[in-house]
Amino acid sequence: MEGKKIPGPKNILFNKDVRLIKDRPLMFLENMNKNFPGITQIKALHLNIVIINDPKYIRLVLQTNQKQYVKSAIYNKLKLILGEGLVTSEGDLWKRQRKLIQPSFHKQTIFNLFETMLASTNDMIAEWKVVAKKDGKLDFSEEMMQVTLDIISKTMLGAEVKSEAKIIRNSLHFIGNEVNVKTKRIFDFPLWVPTSSNLKFKSERKVLDDIIYKIIGDRKKEGNTKGDLLDMLMMAKYEDTGESMPPKLLRDEIMTVFTAGHSTTANALTWTFYLISQHPEVFKKLKKEVNDIVGNGEITFQHLQQLKYTKACFNESMRLFPPVWIFGRKALEDNWMGDYLIKKGTNVLISPYIVHRSPEFWKDADKFEPNRWETEEVKEMDKFAYFPFAAGPRMCIGNNFALFEADIIIAKVIQNFDFEYTGKSAPEVYPSTILRVKDGLPMKIKEIV
Ligand code: HEM
Repeated sequence: MEGKKIPGPKNILFNKDVRLIKDRPLMFLENMNKNFPGITQIKALHLNIVIINDPKYIRLVLQTNQKQYVKSAIYNKLKLILGEGLVTSEGDLWKRQRKLIQPSFHKQTIFNLFETMLASTNDMIAEWKVVAKKDGKLDFSEEMMQVTLDIISKTMLGAEVKSEAKIIRNSLHFIGNEVNVKTKRIFDFPLWVPTSSNLKFKSERKVLDDIIYKIIGDRKKEGNTKGDLLDMLMMAKYEDTGESMPPKLLRDEIMTVFTAGHSTTANALTWTFYLISQHPEVFKKLKKEVNDIVGNGEITFQHLQQLKYTKACFNESMRLFPPVWIFGRKALEDNWMGDYLIKKGTNVLISPYIVHRSPEFWKDADKFEPNRWETEEVKEMDKFAYFPFAAGPRMCIGNNFALFEADIIIAKVIQNFDFEYTGKSAPEVYPSTILRVKDGLPMKIKEIV
């Protein structure tokens, strides 16, 4: 049976919009959604892509029919560093791993990491106070990367990586960029071909592997007594065999959580601070909330639950700048999307960036308006119109971790500093694997005394 024809551009090889795919992907997606709202097909030569921007179709792919989809081929590039960790694995292996790891990410377990997250944030605040006494100049995007890396290192691996933090940051930075380049190359040499970039990739990966395997080895000798995520992963036992995770999988899961668990939150926070700096009325309301609830003293776990407006600011920032701005699935078999037939092998692209900014679902869609999170309209809206953490069984396992961490960092910064964006023009959006600011986020901070 043939379905209804999926709308899409004609003569795509000569279509100017399609030529934007590589260089201006956000503009390309916006144009496609304007011209073909809800669903678009791009078909040429070996290319068969369907872009969906309608919550009812997104629900089908991520939830209702999720068994008929796997992650798209682009994730194979991520495998070069993440191996068979949760982000990149499929089928029974993924299911078994997710079941084993899920308890380590329960809300209650994450709440136990409060003191560690707070300590890292306080280290950053102390350093900022020194900077404030000098010229007050900071790159917030760099600062957010550092603090979130510190938090993931300490909560995941204990304090052990302190001395190697810089090496890890540099290696992750190189590998992250290289994976991004590899996904965009039309032809990419496999890793066994000894090109200079492949050799460098392998040597940086080995640096990270050596650190991880050493930490695992040390932890085995010492016994699992730190109560961090590594302990939990090492002690977790498969229900069917009663055995614990084999070392290579443990390495892959650590690398996955490490990588997925900091640059996402870091970029979301960077955009949040930028948006706050551009909206004095939001800044004022946020300060009032933090002042009324936390005051001058140390923030507690109980305070965090009450910081409603702080949470609204972070939600709203991830609406406008979702760190994972696009993700893809591949159809394993023919399946229906309303009247449309999605053929086996089709690549389906889903972009939170486009859906989150669609005037069809959002009033004043381009406006940063944290108050909207208090309205009934938003509370009752289709959850597939807002999905920064994806949705369905493959939803982000670290969502509670990220939200908790973000609340602490935002509240502590607001409590201690005024800040002003000092860039000459608005920061440029850079849609790498993660939605980043292009050339950093220069800010001038002033301590509140
Ligand atoms: C604001 C911060 C974050 C955002 C926006 C985010 C977003 C996402 C999204 C959209 C996915 C699904 C990707 C796909 O299906 O293709 C995902 C998966 C994942 N995320 Fe996050 N993430 C964040 C923070 C974290 C943190 C803090 C951790 C760990 C500590 C984490 C670990 C993971 C893992 C392991 C997966 C794979 C889950 C699976 O497939 O079972 N993420 N994340």
